[in-house]
Amino acid sequence: MKRSGRFITLLIGAIVIACFSGRALAADDKAAKPADLVLTGDAVCTSCHDASDDATPTLANRHPSVMAIGKTRHGTRADGRTPSCTSCHGESDQHRKTRGNTKPDVLFSKQGATPVEARNAACLSCHKEGNRIGWHTSTHGLQDLSCSSCHSVHAQRDKVREKQTQAEVCFACHKEQRNQISKASHHPVVEGKMTCSSCHNVHGDNPKMLVKASTNETCFTCHMEKRGPFVHNHQPVTEDCGICHQPHGTTIPNLLKARAPFLCQDCHSHDSHPGQAAALPNAPSNSTSMLGTVARGCLNCHTNIHGGNSTVNSATAGRFRR
Ligand code: HEC
Ligand code: HEC
Ligand code: HEC
Ligand code: HEC
Ligand code: HEC
Ligand code: HEC
Ligand code: HEC
Ligand code: HEC
Ligand code: HEC
Ligand code: HEC
Repeated sequence: MKRSGRFITLLIGAIVIACFSGRALAADDKAAKPADLVLTGDAVCTSCHDASDDATPTLANRHPSVMAIGKTRHGTRADGRTPSCTSCHGESDQHRKTRGNTKPDVLFSKQGATPVEARNAACLSCHKEGNRIGWHTSTHGLQDLSCSSCHSVHAQRDKVREKQTQAEVCFACHKEQRNQISKASHHPVVEGKMTCSSCHNVHGDNPKMLVKASTNETCFTCHMEKRGPFVHNHQPVTEDCGICHQPHGTTIPNLLKARAPFLCQDCHSHDSHPGQAAALPNAPSNSTSMLGTVARGCLNCHTNIHGGNSTVNSATAGRFRR
């Protein structure tokens, strides 16, 4: 990588000199057989496309420096599998013959006429394995996203694969998640400690494109202690963490969708609470809504809301108390 970086610096230098020294050099160039500039076999394209393309970026907000591809994994000359220009853009015979007056076979920009399937097929010819196995039936695949909706292959830094910048790429299309993740209680994505892809495989066909087959399995990859096994399970917890938590962010601490007692009273009775006795406040009626207004409410007593292991007292053990 370093070597190709230096190579490009030299190359740019050479071009600058070539420009200044004018026609004499241009004549020499014509005589010489074009050499590969970045990748083995790329001379068919780099005889015309060289670092001078960089001065006129074609994509409004990405500025692909065409030759910067030499500094990416796609520029590793030592690797026999490395693509050349034609592996992605096609042989483009017509384009070459007409000296750029017709389009290359595969053009990745949205304005280009190449259908999405053909653009993606160019990448998938080498990358259909691993994470991408489910691409065609993934939500993104079915929505006709192209690989280059997210990836910038010519840029030295591919924003979507860097922790600090990935979310920006997603937010271009996912405004609602931008809003959620910047709420007071959130997973540390904007802080750069984790990324959207910590939970999502955006090439995959799992539900909600999660990295695992279910929400719970995804959460357990980091919050193992919530998996149990517990002696007493709380049914909504084993069912779906998302019943109580909004994984991106909320205004309520602990990413909760609502505060106790309201959170609990979605399912548990508003107007009765058993064993209303000495330990419990003296309420006019045996009402959980009365209990809920006491201090921190339900969670003051039902502390092990994700599941309890207590075997001390069979009457309280199943109630997620210590
Ligand atoms: C004989 C010169 C020549 C050769 C050889 C050549 N091109 Fe081009 N190419 C051009 C010109 C001229 C343009 C139009 C100006 C521009 O957009 O930079 C162009 C434009 C392009 C574009 C942008 C098209 C658009 O509409 O945005 C791509 C992509 C491209 N060429 C890829 C390639 C590839 C890949 C090869 C090798 C297979 C290749 N070119 C070989 C001259 C050439
Ligand atoms: C790994 C696949 C791949 C390889 C290899 C590749 N390109 Fe590209 N090229 C793309 C994609 C994708 C874009 C769209 C912009 C981006 O993602 O950076 C693009 C954009 C371009 C553009 C700008 C026009 C546009 O559509 O935005 C030119 C010119 C170009 N490539 C020429 C080349 C040349 C010359 C080579 C060989 C040195 C080459 N490409 C190698 C995938 C590739
Ligand atoms: C001719 C084969 C080939 C084609 C076509 C190809 N790639 Fe690659 N790609 C590779 C190789 C080889 C590597 C480096 C080894 C690896 O990571 O597996 C790579 C690596 C990558 C990486 C990871 C880079 C890293 O730093 O780890 C991404 C992302 C990628 N390619 C995206 C694309 C996209 C998007 C396209 C289409 C525009 C594309 N590739 C087309 C062969 C190809
Ligand atoms: C919605 C945005 C998005 C789209 C669309 C997308 N990718 Fe990715 N890609 C990512 C992100 C994020 C990563 C890094 C995290 C990961 O590996 O899941 C990545 C990683 C990769 C890697 C390197 C990871 C590895 O396994 O080594 C390759 C290769 C790749 N993508 C190829 C593709 C191809 C091919 C397509 C089109 C079929 C595509 N991507 C479409 C966002 C995207
Ligand atoms: C070019 C636009 C675009 C970009 C960029 C993009 N997405 Fe999407 N994404 C979509 C569309 C379109 C859908 C389907 C409709 C919807 O749910 O909004 C979708 C759906 C999703 C879904 C829901 C999946 C499901 O099965 O319901 C997730 C999760 C997702 N995207 C994550 C991401 C992540 C993470 C990134 C960044 C790495 C990203 N997206 C980048 C367009 C995009
Ligand atoms: C902590 C794990 C986690 C992180 C980090 C995360 N997500 Fe999600 N995301 C989920 C889960 C779980 C769901 C499914 C929620 C559900 O079932 O309603 C989801 C759903 C989605 C959906 C579909 C929403 C819908 O209503 O169908 C989109 C789009 C999405 N996420 C985008 C993103 C983006 C963009 C990022 C990064 C800014 C991101 N996610 C980060 C876990 C996560
Ligand atoms: C990639 C690792 C990872 C995954 C996967 C993950 N989390 Fe987290 N989670 C974290 C980190 C890191 C924190 C922040 C801890 C801190 O700030 O001390 C956190 C914090 C939390 C918090 C406490 C927030 C607060 O305000 O302190 C809750 C609740 C939570 N996660 C729920 C979930 C749920 C539900 C899922 C599954 C949808 C999930 N997490 C998936 C890493 C992860
Ligand atoms: C019945 C609602 C509910 C469900 C379902 C639920 N949680 Fe929670 N979770 C809570 C409440 C309430 C808190 C706050 C606890 C407190 O304040 O003592 C919390 C706090 C957390 C915390 C941060 C504090 C801690 O205990 O580490 C994490 C992490 C967490 N939950 C993960 C999960 C995971 C993972 C799942 C799915 C396996 C899940 N939760 C399912 C209600 C729920
Ligand atoms: C999505 C619905 C739902 C939510 C929200 C919910 N629970 Fe539950 N909870 C249940 C179900 C279902 C059971 C099992 C009932 C049974 O076994 O009779 C249960 C059981 C319990 C039990 C044990 C009951 C017993 O008979 O052993 C307690 C205590 C409890 N929940 C407290 C809470 C608290 C406190 C909250 C709020 C933080 C809460 N629950 C939120 C559905 C929910
Ligand atoms: C002051 C402590 C305390 C508070 C506050 C409290 N509980 Fe309880 N809860 C208990 C005890 C103790 C039991 C076991 C009583 C028994 O089995 O006789 C119990 C039992 C339960 C049960 C099991 C009901 C059954 O039929 O067996 C549920 C459900 C429950 N509580 C939900 C809640 C909810 C929801 C809240 C908040 C609105 C709440 N509790 C607030 C102490 C408390």
